[in-house]
Amino acid sequence: HLPVDVDLSKLAPGQQMTAVWQGKPIFILRRTAEDLAKLQDPKLVEQLRDAQSDALQQPTYARNWHRSLVPDYGVYVGICTHLGCVPAYTAPAAAPDQTGRYACPCHGSQFDLAGRVFKGAPAPYNLPVPPYVLPTPTTLRLG
Ligand code: FES
Repeated sequence: HLPVDVDLSKLAPGQQMTAVWQGKPIFILRRTAEDLAKLQDPKLVEQLRDAQSDALQQPTYARNWHRSLVPDYGVYVGICTHLGCVPAYTAPAAAPDQTGRYACPCHGSQFDLAGRVFKGAPAPYNLPVPPYVLPTPTTLRLG
């Protein structure tokens, strides 16, 4: 498989886009300062099933509280870890408690803006982080 380059220059803070890599949807989210603060809020963290992502292998650069190479951009394989539906991005303004999330339409699993699954969901673990680099500040290279 060849790597896939994605232009991030038009992705504004608070927006997300979906790219395709190896036939899979890849969510790319440009998080705001508020989003990033929320990811560290103990009130959010206590609602998560696996806040430290201990249940899945993930790239070294994603083993941090923001699960990404740089905090601004979250990058996830957009396939629900329950039975494979594609979760929908819900911006903070439209979400419960103003906490942005990805919501799976099939059986209700919810993931935060670091792709971490909320407790009580049928999805057993967090959205995986795909392999990627940022060859320029506004270019994402998947694969
Ligand atoms: Fe997402 Fe079942 S496939 S909750």
